[in-house]
Amino acid sequence: MLFDSHAHLDAKQFDHDRDLVIKRARLNEVSYIMNPGADFESSVEAVALAEKYDFIYAAVGVHPHDVETMDDNMLALLKAMAQKEKVKAIGEIGLDYYRDLSPRPLQKKWFIAQLRLAKSLDMPVIIHDRDANDDVLRILKEEQAFETGVLMHCFSGSKELARQYVALGAYISIAGPLTFKNARKTIEVVESVPLERLMIETDSPYLTPEPFRGKRNESMYVKHVCQKIADIKGIAYEKCAEITLNNAKAYFKIK
Ligand code: NI
Repeated sequence: MLFDSHAHLDAKQFDHDRDLVIKRARLNEVSYIMNPGADFESSVEAVALAEKYDFIYAAVGVHPHDVETMDDNMLALLKAMAQKEKVKAIGEIGLDYYRDLSPRPLQKKWFIAQLRLAKSLDMPVIIHDRDANDDVLRILKEEQAFETGVLMHCFSGSKELARQYVALGAYISIAGPLTFKNARKTIEVVESVPLERLMIETDSPYLTPEPFRGKRNESMYVKHVCQKIADIKGIAYEKCAEITLNNAKAYFKIK
């Protein structure tokens, strides 16, 4: 049984076969999926999917790429949506200095506003950090986000950074790039983070793991991330699946 802690099943890449993809996940032992929003529309769609399928849960939030669409009204709408039963986190939110699709001051402004929204609702967050390690960590500390829960999605930082996050109480989620040939840095992260602080994800439709790299990703491929972590840690696949599933269930407060 697997928990895919990050899948964008609302993405347009699934428009022609979404129900089949979800069915395949279920048939391949994926027993829980967290679908975070990327912008306001996709947050609405994530909630609709979570309300349609019992094993899908949603997070609502606006990704740093899309914060130029945000205003106070949208923040209030997100807050209302976040209080629905199947919504378990605020995300994905954060900073992206790699693609820089939105001006950095705006990225920071809405990152902080959404962290405060999560705190006000006592909800955990799902964090996107691309080439913005220092600012993300500083802001998370300043906003005392660790008190309500921090999950670093698709972690791509160093093992030293991972250790800092673990010491602060955060969880680290590992995606398909762990299976790529150049994964040395992420392998070190997996080696140095206790299994009790790891989650697994697909980030589908992106970041497809080996041996399917290059194709569209989907939740059933999360097993390849699980297998790779089990290999690195020298433990049984079933144990990795069970612990990462329990971690995610506890983090998102799913009974
Ligand atoms: Ni994502």
